[in-house]
Amino acid sequence: MQRRCFLLASACLLTAHLRAAQPVSATHGMVVAQEPIAADVGLAVLKSGGNAVDAAIAVGFALAVTHPFAGNIGGGGFMLVRMADGRAAFLDFRECAPAKASRDMYLDSQGNPTRDSILGWRSSGVPGSVAGFEAAYKKFGRKPWADLLAPAVKLASDGFPVSAPFAASLDAPKNNIRLDPESTRIFLRGGRPYQPGDTLKQPELASTLARIQKHGAKDFYQGEIARQFAAAMTAHGGLITLDDLKNYKVAERAPLTGAYNGFHIITSPPPSAGGLGLLQIMGMLEGTNYASDGPDSAKAVHYEAEAMRRFYADRSQYMGDPDFYTVPVKMLLDPKYLAWRRSTIDPDRATPSEAVAPGLPRAMNAAIHSRENTETTHYNVLDSNGNAVAVTYTLNDGYGNGITVPGLGFLLNDEMDDFVSKPGAPNMFGMVGGDANAIEPGKRPLSSMTPTIVTKDDKPYMVVGAPGGSRITTGVAEVILDVLDFHMNPQDAVDLPRFHEQWKPEMLYLQNGFSPETEKALERMGYRIEPTGGVARVEAIVIQNGVLEGGTESRQHGKVAGY
Ligand code: GLY
Repeated sequence: MQRRCFLLASACLLTAHLRAAQPVSATHGMVVAQEPIAADVGLAVLKSGGNAVDAAIAVGFALAVTHPFAGNIGGGGFMLVRMADGRAAFLDFRECAPAKASRDMYLDSQGNPTRDSILGWRSSGVPGSVAGFEAAYKKFGRKPWADLLAPAVKLASDGFPVSAPFAASLDAPKNNIRLDPESTRIFLRGGRPYQPGDTLKQPELASTLARIQKHGAKDFYQGEIARQFAAAMTAHGGLITLDDLKNYKVAERAPLTGAYNGFHIITSPPPSAGGLGLLQIMGMLEGTNYASDGPDSAKAVHYEAEAMRRFYADRSQYMGDPDFYTVPVKMLLDPKYLAWRRSTIDPDRATPSEAVAPGLPRAMNAAIHSRENTETTHYNVLDSNGNAVAVTYTLNDGYGNGITVPGLGFLLNDEMDDFVSKPGAPNMFGMVGGDANAIEPGKRPLSSMTPTIVTKDDKPYMVVGAPGGSRITTGVAEVILDVLDFHMNPQDAVDLPRFHEQWKPEMLYLQNGFSPETEKALERMGYRIEPTGGVARVEAIVIQNGVLEGGTESRQHGKVAGY
């Protein structure tokens, strides 16, 4: 009853865009993914007795076929698992730099960054997805491995109907796939772009997936697939060798954890900056009463944006691959440090980014676009036993660098752009950085991916994550706060317009839908506002009293599949 009153009170404060949409609900299991066919693949696995990890693996392989914009076997990502018995695991299958990579490899003779970290065969890191799914399977899987790949093999070989959004994204004028003959042949039918309803078949990808189905990840890293992949790399001037593939290792890391108002947050450790960002932002907000005027009020946006600004300043200096750089995680999450950071927030004014530096004491220091950055994809799975999985994986740019490996049918990532090519020079997401995230052989680039599981009283309460480049962390933080502090259902929370502030460039990116009053109040406080098409594309499941509610953005094309 109390919650209902709060909801009604909050609803009055919200602008017209928020219509208290009904989330999809279920009582047994649920999959939320950005592509409906893959969501249904996961649901079928759950219904046939697979657990959440089984379903997550099947969805991951299916998305590589039905959502090649970001679903992949040529990229990498993170899987966060929280089993019903309390075991939590974070599988880091992020791409790593090949052995031939070097710090200045993307600079021209004048020392300026080139586009080679984004385009061409040299932009790819060693892919981790196949090894990551196999590692998850070995640790938690229950169904036969072959069964988990069967839907993906079938979708690739028999084909599936191209949806309207997929057709539009394939045919987008700035698409990297136009630059590659093999991708043009497969995804643009050599110049006769797919129309909605046409069938897309990918026979080469089907054969590759069938080999993985039969022989496991070993074939991708040491067998026939590896040999063909490495040969294609050499033929096109790429850096990845057979040895790079053979040496690729999934890292199992302890998830980052934190407490927030009675909830337990389980999230991504470095080489993601996302979990640190989430916990820093929440930690700085605690005790500010930032929520008192409602979720889209100037007060809430101001406090959240200032916390974001301070996090992104820290991100630029202190965060990188923990196997190569000592990330001062404890110091960055120290309540005293966060209290000091909080104390520098002026309640009435935006702090200029110039006045905000990476904040740890000195002794401890060892062009973003207005388009929505939805490169990367995220999905959540919850099974009937309460096992929860959140996966974010990616090719970095949409369709990666646009290159399909001839004969193997999979697209390559351009994840090397997530490293710092030159200190202070922005990458494709406008992120700047320094030594902590410099290129080194074998190192993983810093990520923003933030798969997160929230528990309450030792039970899963929320499973959440998003694609969206540098905006992932802020988008995920906003939706979690909308659920925990503003008591929204997951559908309303993911549909609520969001905002993003990343320290540099100094700009408050506002999605359409904020009231003119909020915008004017923020301008009076000193914010430079830039309209944006979106801030991440968040997907969430919330579990209360045994009922699972799922939300996927109505602005997009995802699916909540539950039973
Ligand atoms: N490639 C986007 C990220 O990892 O943050």
